[in-house]
Amino acid sequence: VSGDEGPRRAAGRLWGGRFAEGPDAEIDRFTSSFAFDTPLAPFDLRASMAHGRMLWERGIIEDDDARAILVGLGEIHDAVVSGELAVRGDDEDVHSWIERTLTERIGPAARRLHTARSRNDQTAVALRLLVRHRLVELAEALLALLGDLRARAAETLEVTLPGYTHLQRGQPVTLAHHLLAHAWSLVADLKRLRQVHDTAGSCPLGAGALAGTPHPIDPARSAALLGFPRCFPNSMYAVADRDYVVETSFACALLLVHLSRWAEEVVLWTSREFGFAELDDRVAKGSSLMPQKKNPEPAEVLRGKSGRVVGDLVAHLMQLKGLPLTYNSDLQEDKEALFDALDSARGALTVARPLLAGLRFQPEAMRRALRGGYVTATDLADALVRARVPFRDAHERAGTVVREAERRGVELWELPPEVMGALCPEIGAGVLAELEPERAVQAHDSPGGPASVRVAQQLEAFDLILDEAAAWVRSAGGPLPIEMAWRSRELLETPSRGDEVRR
Ligand code: ARG
Repeated sequence: VSGDEGPRRAAGRLWGGRFAEGPDAEIDRFTSSFAFDTPLAPFDLRASMAHGRMLWERGIIEDDDARAILVGLGEIHDAVVSGELAVRGDDEDVHSWIERTLTERIGPAARRLHTARSRNDQTAVALRLLVRHRLVELAEALLALLGDLRARAAETLEVTLPGYTHLQRGQPVTLAHHLLAHAWSLVADLKRLRQVHDTAGSCPLGAGALAGTPHPIDPARSAALLGFPRCFPNSMYAVADRDYVVETSFACALLLVHLSRWAEEVVLWTSREFGFAELDDRVAKGSSLMPQKKNPEPAEVLRGKSGRVVGDLVAHLMQLKGLPLTYNSDLQEDKEALFDALDSARGALTVARPLLAGLRFQPEAMRRALRGGYVTATDLADALVRARVPFRDAHERAGTVVREAERRGVELWELPPEVMGALCPEIGAGVLAELEPERAVQAHDSPGGPASVRVAQQLEAFDLILDEAAAWVRSAGGPLPIEMAWRSRELLETPSRGDEVRR
């Protein structure tokens, strides 16, 4: 079908034959995804190469056509990846652009590539490849941030500050312990990124529009060429399933929610009210009106990004809710929100590192905050418990001591020995030194506790996890088998005829 039959004919479409007229211009613009699906181009090109190779190996297309298709796709792929070829035109989506570009380059052989394939499995396979690629990139960026957090923790094993509940001073902790509390949430995110990478690891290519194909295809071969560990168990499920999209946006949303909690802390800690940290000029911004201001803007934007990514997740869930089997054009709408979630997560991880590096902790301010809040009152109760006083009674007695200290305007450890001796005869004044926060925190050496010895153990456990994750990133990243076969030109070698199946 050519454009000869007039501009309104559905010329140049992948589906023109049945139509006497092309779509209305507004309808066409509204239903087109080309404005936002171009990031799929390299991934679709890889999947198309795998599909072409599989068709060739199965004897579904002939040597000359197959070779022309693979060379054409490979060259387009390289030109797109290098930026030499812009993915542009008035095509309705990236898949149409690829087929048109291939046809322009190699001629009629291109018309055989879509055998045993539909845009429904085509778009799904490209999206899964993109997701898997981007998840590995995110894991790598997250690992770098975790490495930075680990380094700051290793420097601050002995720095003591109040730990908070209800944003009220609770008990002393070490700064390293506090920083690692954030890091462990991010370790959970890292694990989640890997789980989603696996969810996305089921290859849908070969499902066709929804009902497979009568051609003797080998979906497992296509899957292997694309580095997928599995292929689809059901052709309808393959084109309808978007769990990998939902799980990706969830993983990004939770990652950003975790980062937003840390970002909020940066905002609080750099306020005059806390003063636990100062920001380097490079990671702060000023006010257009108030000359004295130094605002923690990167932390605020980071905190704000989490809301938008939660929105992306909700968009995905809503797109799927009540959607009938199998493919529906609603699914085209998943891309913008998915790319937004991935881009936001990448951006957040990228700025979190310089932000952390620009954060200068103020141990003196932290030490000052250990005063005035009676943060070792629980330690006094625990000292009484060691002298066999039941905890409930000890709690009450420690409360009385706090009241007395408050009345005198002193810290617990500054009470006159005779006063402590009178209030707590079971333990006497010897307890006073134990109530100094820097000493008390080191007594909190229960497993997973804030004492420096326990935090050092955390660091060891942490290192094992990071090393293992780094090995995963190395193995999961890198070029796909199909790209290697193209680079080595093995992709163009005639398949051994023994494998060929004809019907
Ligand atoms: N652009 C479409 C998408 O992103 C590709 C699949 C179109 N399939 C179809 N039958 N219209 O989902």
